[in-house]
Amino acid sequence: MDCHVKDMGLAAKGKMRIEWAGRHMPVLKAIGERFEKEKPLKGLKVAACLHVTTETANLMKALSMGGAEIALCASNPLSTQDDVAASLVKDYGIKTFCIKGEDNDTYYSHIESVLNTKPMVTMDDGADLVSMAHGKRKDVLESIIAGTEETTTGVIRLEAMAKEKVLKYPILAVNEAMTKHFFDNRYGTGQSTLDGVIRATNILIAGSTVVIAGYGWCGKGVAMRARGLGGHVIVTEINPVKAIEAIMDGFEVMPMAEAAPKGDLFITVTGNKNVIRREHFIRMKDGAVVANSGHFNCELELEEGLYKMAEERIAVRDFVEGFRLSNGKTIYLLADGRLVNLSAAEGHPAMVMDMSFANQALGLEWILKHKDKLEKKVYVIPEEVDRMIASIKLGTMGYAIDELTEEQKKYLASWQEGT
Ligand code: ADE
Repeated sequence: MDCHVKDMGLAAKGKMRIEWAGRHMPVLKAIGERFEKEKPLKGLKVAACLHVTTETANLMKALSMGGAEIALCASNPLSTQDDVAASLVKDYGIKTFCIKGEDNDTYYSHIESVLNTKPMVTMDDGADLVSMAHGKRKDVLESIIAGTEETTTGVIRLEAMAKEKVLKYPILAVNEAMTKHFFDNRYGTGQSTLDGVIRATNILIAGSTVVIAGYGWCGKGVAMRARGLGGHVIVTEINPVKAIEAIMDGFEVMPMAEAAPKGDLFITVTGNKNVIRREHFIRMKDGAVVANSGHFNCELELEEGLYKMAEERIAVRDFVEGFRLSNGKTIYLLADGRLVNLSAAEGHPAMVMDMSFANQALGLEWILKHKDKLEKKVYVIPEEVDRMIASIKLGTMGYAIDELTEEQKKYLASWQEGT
């Protein structure tokens, strides 16, 4: 089969891990079982650019049960799990192109390999796939009817494309579903980011000053978990509303220039570039640890900043590199500034990815049903799909909730009744 993975000998280990994750993804499992009967994706050629993890493998499985023909590449050079990639090829028949630690050229050549399959639908995480289909590989646009996008950064890029009127096909923004960002961005990023930092460094968070740049859904999750582990948390923001939210949630808020000399651990989750720059690195304490959990490593000024400032680079341990600066201090960078949760750990747990990927699967089905009516813009998942996923998830978690009575429904639809 057309593929490029590290080592097919890892497939057996990958399969066990994929099945383990599958046990924690009951909503996706139910969707896969329905898809197998109804085949709503029969013959649909899907190009997927996602983090190649055990959770993604379960999504690929559900889509192929629905009849899709999939080609998959990574959405980040460091986020691939090589055993999963091998198993996807061997056990699930998915054309897979990704190797953990691939260089940028290989990363982009893998995106091209996926586009070479002449997809009808793109499934992206960060919009690199869509971006190539609108740039170097415009030739593939002819066959593409629509796409989905998983993450905040990708949605921002795609909205910019739509605004400039250069977007050539409709996109469904999975990230905007409540059952995605409330749980994946907050609890998923919160836990997996700290997991990545701890696996890479084994530092104690209790008693450390943790500086978190960005108080969006992801930043909120990271701040909550850093505090839960006993960290003293400082938040930096550029949005006054989010800054007030962080203050009222009980965090210290200040500009990065003030936080730089205070922090023991820095984590960026903003979606923006150069959030920690030269002027910040130079003010940091000796031994400060710096990580990024946003989609791209451009959140840290590396090429023009830390890398140029370093008089010596020290490979300390897996995913930890020291940079000795001219002031004699050493700053430790995790996972080359790539998203630390997927590079040094395994990404979000299956329990939350269950809802995110249920949105991907049902989103794809929704796109196919509505393809003739869609315009070349970014769409949000319909609320009824979102609520349906929440209801199924709640049931699988063993919880029941109340239902509105007829009287309550009437009351909510009326305006006459007051005090
Ligand atoms: N994004 C964050 N965590 C992930 C995971 N476990 N699988 C796929 N994409 C992810």
